[in-house]
Amino acid sequence: MKLSHAAAALIIAWSAVLGCIQAVTLEVKEGNSTCIKAELSASFSITYNTSSSAKTVQVPLPDSAAVDTGSSSCGTDSGSPWLVAVFGPGHALGLSFSTNGSLYSVTNLTLQYNLSDTSIFPDANSSDVVTVVSASVGIWAAINTTYRCLSPTAFRVGEETVTFSDMRLEAYMPGNDLSPAESVCVADKASTTVPPTTSAATTTTAPSVPTPAGTPDRGSYSINNGNGTVCLLAQMGLQFNISYLSKSQNKTVQDLVNLAPNLTSSSGSCEASRATLVLTQEQTTTLNFTFTLNSTTNKYHLSGIALFANWSDMTAPFSASNISLNYLRSTLGHSYMCNAEQTLDVVPTFSLNTFRLQVQPFGVTTNQFATAEECQMDQDQMLIPIIVGAALAGLVLIVLIAYLIGRKRSHAGYQTI
Ligand SMILES: *[C@@H]1O[C@H](CO)[C@@H](O)[C@H](O)[C@H]1NC(C)=O
Ligand SMILES: *[C@@H]1O[C@H](CO)[C@@H](O)[C@H](O)[C@H]1NC(C)=O
Ligand SMILES: *[C@@H]1O[C@H](CO)[C@@H](O)[C@H](O)[C@H]1NC(C)=O
Ligand SMILES: *[C@@H]1O[C@H](CO)[C@@H](O)[C@H](O)[C@H]1NC(C)=O
Ligand SMILES: *[C@@H]1O[C@H](CO)[C@@H](O)[C@H](O)[C@H]1NC(C)=O
Ligand SMILES: *[C@@H]1O[C@H](CO)[C@@H](O)[C@H](O)[C@H]1NC(C)=O
Ligand SMILES: *[C@@H]1O[C@H](CO)[C@@H](O)[C@H](O)[C@H]1NC(C)=O
Ligand SMILES: *[C@@H]1O[C@H](CO)[C@@H](O)[C@H](O)[C@H]1NC(C)=O
Ligand SMILES: *[C@@H]1O[C@H](CO)[C@@H](O)[C@H](O)[C@H]1NC(C)=O
Ligand SMILES: *[C@@H]1O[C@H](CO)[C@@H](O)[C@H](O)[C@H]1NC(C)=O
Ligand SMILES: *[C@@H]1O[C@H](CO)[C@@H](O)[C@H](O)[C@H]1NC(C)=O
Ligand SMILES: *[C@@H]1O[C@H](CO)[C@@H](O)[C@H](O)[C@H]1NC(C)=O
Repeated sequence: MKLSHAAAALIIAWSAVLGCIQAVTLEVKEGNSTCIKAELSASFSITYNTSSSAKTVQVPLPDSAAVDTGSSSCGTDSGSPWLVAVFGPGHALGLSFSTNGSLYSVTNLTLQYNLSDTSIFPDANSSDVVTVVSASVGIWAAINTTYRCLSPTAFRVGEETVTFSDMRLEAYMPGNDLSPAESVCVADKASTTVPPTTSAATTTTAPSVPTPAGTPDRGSYSINNGNGTVCLLAQMGLQFNISYLSKSQNKTVQDLVNLAPNLTSSSGSCEASRATLVLTQEQTTTLNFTFTLNSTTNKYHLSGIALFANWSDMTAPFSASNISLNYLRSTLGHSYMCNAEQTLDVVPTFSLNTFRLQVQPFGVTTNQFATAEECQMDQDQMLIPIIVGAALAGLVLIVLIAYLIGRKRSHAGYQTI
C-alpha cells in the first residue's frame, strides 16, 4: 500500500470537510429583532426559449443568496411581511406572509430570474427579467412554532417549479431564534402516521417493526430522473441504533434494528448538486439521505440523514435529523464503497450502521456504478493480509538462516572429531 495513496485520501477527506455545504439561512430584521427566519435549500426548474427550442435548467439557490433589506419587510399597516432573497445578477426569491392570529402562512411565492445571465441561461433568445408569482402555496404553521419540512416539496410558480428541502421557517417570531416547537409538514408526517381507516384488516395486527438485529440484509435501491434514466444507485445493509422510551419496559431502551430490504420502497430526486434517497419500510420507518455535490471541487458527500420511526413499542414517534453531516466523501464520476461496517452518528439518540455499502448519487451513466473510491477501513483491511504475509515471510527467512547456521556449526563439529 502506497503512502502517497493514503496521503491523497487524507487530502480528499480534508478538502471535503472544508467544502461542507449547508442550507442557506435568511433573516429579516427590524431594528435588533428578527421577524422572519428561514433555513432552507431551494432549487428552481426554469424553462426558457432559445432561438431553436425550449430549454429547461435546474438552478440551485446558492450559498451566496442574501436578504434584500430594501424590499424585505417585517410588515406595515398596509403591507404584509415579505422575505426577499437575491442572488446572482438580478435573480430573486420572495415569500410573503399573512396571519389570522393563530396561524400564519406563505401567501405568495415569487421567483424572478434574469435571462441575460448567460452562465445560467445559455443561448436565451431574450434578455428579459421574468417575474412569476404563485397563488397560495399551502405552507402554514401555528403562530409561535417553526414550520418544518425536511422532505423535498415542489411548488408550481407560473410555468416554473420551486423545490424546497431541509426547510425550517418562521414568521411573526416571538424571539430572535426559531421557536423550538415545530409544525411538521404533511410530507414529513405522512410516513409516520398509520391511517386507521384505510384498511380494516390492519387494525388487529400491530404495525410491524423492522427486524431485530444480526447483520442486516443488503438492499439495492435506485432513483430515476424525469426521463426514466437512473440517476442514483445505492446498495447497502442498514441498521438503526436508536434510543427511545419503550412502552413495554416503561424506560428508555437502546435498540438495534435492521431495515428489511424486501419490505422497503425507495423514492427520491436528483438535482444538479443535490440528490435525495428516501427509504420507507411499510408505514413505520422513513429514512432520508441527502447527498450534496460541490461543483467547484467536484466532490460529493452525504450531508443529511433524517429518520422518522413509529414502532409499536415506542411511546411516541421518533424523529431526528442532522443536515450538516460529512460522510461518504467521494469524487464526481466515482462511486463510494465501504464493505466494512461503518457507524454514521446522526444525533446522540440515533446512529446508523452501514454494511457492504456502495452508493453513487451523482454522475450515474449506463445504470451502473462507476469505479469505486473505497473507505479507509477497507483499505486498512486489505493491508492486514499484506502485513501478515510479510511477517510470515520474515519468519521463514529467520528459520532458514538459523537452520543454515546450525547446519554449518554441526558440519564443523563433525570435522573436528
Ligand atoms: C466547494 O468547495 C470549495 C473548496 O473547498 C469551497 O470554497 C466552496 O465554498 C464550496 N462550494 C460550495 C457551494 O459549498
Ligand atoms: C440594538 O442593540 C444595541 C446594542 O445591544 C443598542 O445599543 C441599540 O439601541 C439597539 N437598537 C434598537 C433599535 O433596539
Ligand atoms: C417561448 O416561446 C413560446 C412560443 O414559441 C411562447 O409561447 C412562450 O411564452 C415562450 N416562453 C418564454 C419563457 O418566453
Ligand atoms: C424566441 O424563440 C421562440 C421559439 O423558440 C419564439 O417563439 C420567440 O418569438 C423568440 N423570441 C424572440 C424575442 O426572438
Ligand atoms: C405577493 O406578495 C407581495 C408582498 O406581500 C406583494 O407585494 C405582491 O403584490 C404579491 N403578489 C401577488 C401577485 O399577489
Ligand atoms: C441582468 O443581467 C445582466 C447581465 O448579467 C446585467 O447587466 C443586468 O443588470 C441584470 N439585470 C438586473 C435587473 O439585475
Ligand atoms: C385561523 O385560520 C384557521 C384555518 O383557517 C382557523 O381554523 C382558525 O380558527 C383561524 N383563527 C382565527 C383566530 O381566526
Ligand atoms: C406567542 O408568543 C408571544 C411571546 O412569547 C406571546 O406574547 C403570544 O401571546 C404568543 N401567541 C400565541 C398565539 O400563542
Ligand atoms: C435525461 O435527463 C438528464 C438530465 O436530466 C440528461 O443528462 C440525460 O441525457 C437525459 N437522457 C435521455 C435519454 O434523454
Ligand atoms: C449504539 O449506540 C450506543 C450509544 O451511542 C453505543 O454505546 C453502542 O456501542 C452502539 N451499538 C452499536 C452496535 O453500534
Ligand atoms: C413508569 O415509570 C414511572 C417512573 O419511572 C412511574 O411513575 C410510572 O407509573 C410507570 N408507568 C407504568 C405504566 O408502569
Ligand atoms: C423478508 O426477508 C426475510 C429475511 O430474508 C424473510 O425472513 C422474510 O420472510 C421476508 N419477508 C417477505 C415479506 O418477503
